[in-house]
Amino acid sequence: MKGTMLRSVQASLRRGPNASSSPSSFRLLCRDYSSESAPNRKVAVLGAAGGIGQPLALLMKLNPLVSNLALYDIAGTPGVAADVGHINTRSQVAGYMGEDQLAQALEGSDVVIIPAGVPRKPGMTRDDLFNINAGIVKSLCTAIAKYCPNALVNMISNPVNSTVPIAAEIFKKAGTYDEKKLFGVTTLDVVRAKTFYAGKANVPVAGVNVPVVGGHAGITILPLFSQATPEANNLSDEDIKALTKRTQDGGTEVVEAKAGKGSATLSMAYAGAIFADACLKGLNGVPDVVECSFVQSSITELPFFASKVKLGKNGVEEIMGLGLLSDYEKQGLESLKPELKASIEKGIKYANQS
Ligand code: LAC
Repeated sequence: MKGTMLRSVQASLRRGPNASSSPSSFRLLCRDYSSESAPNRKVAVLGAAGGIGQPLALLMKLNPLVSNLALYDIAGTPGVAADVGHINTRSQVAGYMGEDQLAQALEGSDVVIIPAGVPRKPGMTRDDLFNINAGIVKSLCTAIAKYCPNALVNMISNPVNSTVPIAAEIFKKAGTYDEKKLFGVTTLDVVRAKTFYAGKANVPVAGVNVPVVGGHAGITILPLFSQATPEANNLSDEDIKALTKRTQDGGTEVVEAKAGKGSATLSMAYAGAIFADACLKGLNGVPDVVECSFVQSSITELPFFASKVKLGKNGVEEIMGLGLLSDYEKQGLESLKPELKASIEKGIKYANQS
């Protein structure tokens, strides 16, 4: 009975809708045979025993593009690795615990995903996490520079608007920085924008696409609903404003609903898994893999900016422009710049001071 149910769930996931990149990525995540032909790829998750790390470890174990899954944390990884390791999918799983095992976790990694750090509590902004998470990110990136300098780094630890510049500075100091290989994961903003838009426009969510640009905190998150597909003619300016605000405050909505027990972990893990899958596809030479991400960029005057990015064999292949913006989005773009600039500068300063 159980087996039949599982098979039918897998079949329906496989059948799934095919109109946009994320559902097809999700279908790939759930496909369990496949890829004997896919190249070996090692993925390391740093912070793998945490709230995001555990479901992310699960989702990466379901990804047939992964051959080796390294789960690192300061504690708890033997249990997570033993648990996830029993799942009958392609990858070999290993748990690494404590700093003296970090080198082994990282060596040979193609993609390193970093959800390590502390989450928000109600009333906190992502920037309130800076003091703790900046130090964690700094030491992890120092190790990445040493043990897997060529890996694509997917930064989830908040505040992303500052932790990505911190990582860049650490890699520069180590002489390993490649701007094509460092990504702030903003996929959850896209995931939320798609969900909220589909609900409001009353269209099937599987076919929805919404670019989200800027950064990953409050007003720096700028969803471009004027470019959303399918186009919805039933949304008023007020609806668009409400959707924009809900997307910008999506993380806070979860923090408040969890009432002190953390921030988004499950949807964040889903988003992290989608983005890592896109990175792996790019590395494997799949054409036209596009996701939004916070990267070193010259599409605005700010040194880092999230926009649509094409992923390839060396990471970023092309940073795509912003496209046409509505007047409301143009305003949003101008008002986010001072905050995003300050967060970037705070990261750069921290990395060079300490
Ligand atoms: C969020 C956090 C995880 O967007 O950054 O919910």
